[in-house]
Amino acid sequence: PFTQAAQVCHWAAHHISDRINAFAPTAERPFVLGLPTGSTPLATYKELISLHQAGKVSFRHVVTFNMDEYIGLPSDHPQSYRSFMFDNFFQYIDILPEHIHIPDGNAHDLDAECQKYETAIRQFGGIHLFMGGVGSNGHIAFNEPHSAFDSRTRITELTAETLHDNSRFFDNDVTQMPTTALSIGIGTLLDAEEVMLLVTGEHKAQALQAAVEGEVNPLWPISSLRLHERSLIVCDALAARLL
Ligand code: GLP
Repeated sequence: PFTQAAQVCHWAAHHISDRINAFAPTAERPFVLGLPTGSTPLATYKELISLHQAGKVSFRHVVTFNMDEYIGLPSDHPQSYRSFMFDNFFQYIDILPEHIHIPDGNAHDLDAECQKYETAIRQFGGIHLFMGGVGSNGHIAFNEPHSAFDSRTRITELTAETLHDNSRFFDNDVTQMPTTALSIGIGTLLDAEEVMLLVTGEHKAQALQAAVEGEVNPLWPISSLRLHERSLIVCDALAARLL
């Protein structure tokens, strides 16, 4: 735990950059990075951009897979996760467009899109480091409570709590929001070599407590991390206040 959320994001960015640099990726052997959206990782993306601009990390041989995307939101909608990633990260770094993977929530055949996503991850040999956030109800990506720990990329339904939490990006109007999404599964996440979750703010305290002190239980998807040998949670004092 760190005292401030800013320290969490700073540490996380340096951790990612260190992992990429230690791997020394090449065109034939890229580093495969899993990425989230949300307000929590924003400062991490900013710091990664600064590190890139200072010449300390390159994304030229990095392949990315995003966690999730809303179903039915036009891809150029300002709140689509595709827009989020380009607006806040990809446009500022040297990543190759063909290395970017985000589930297509407008695919004609959504089930086929999910299978294609899993296949693409496998074709790159799996994810080296998956960064994530958590919802106040413990969801990871859009794996809501009760999601199976061996779930794969699929169509998921958002709970009322998640709709409420995320409505702040849709003029606080739940009726403007998609109620379904494409999301990697918990099994997809746990397959990564390393998982790092960022947990900041008072509203995440219950989820963090369930993750660390509760039972490993699908009621709290974040608790699945305890099944992973190389998982870490980077958090601030507010999120850790119930521990
Ligand atoms: C969304 C995303 C999650 C993210 C969560 C928390 O529901 N699908 O991947 O972790 O929001 O977002 P925030 O960081 O804004 O609290």
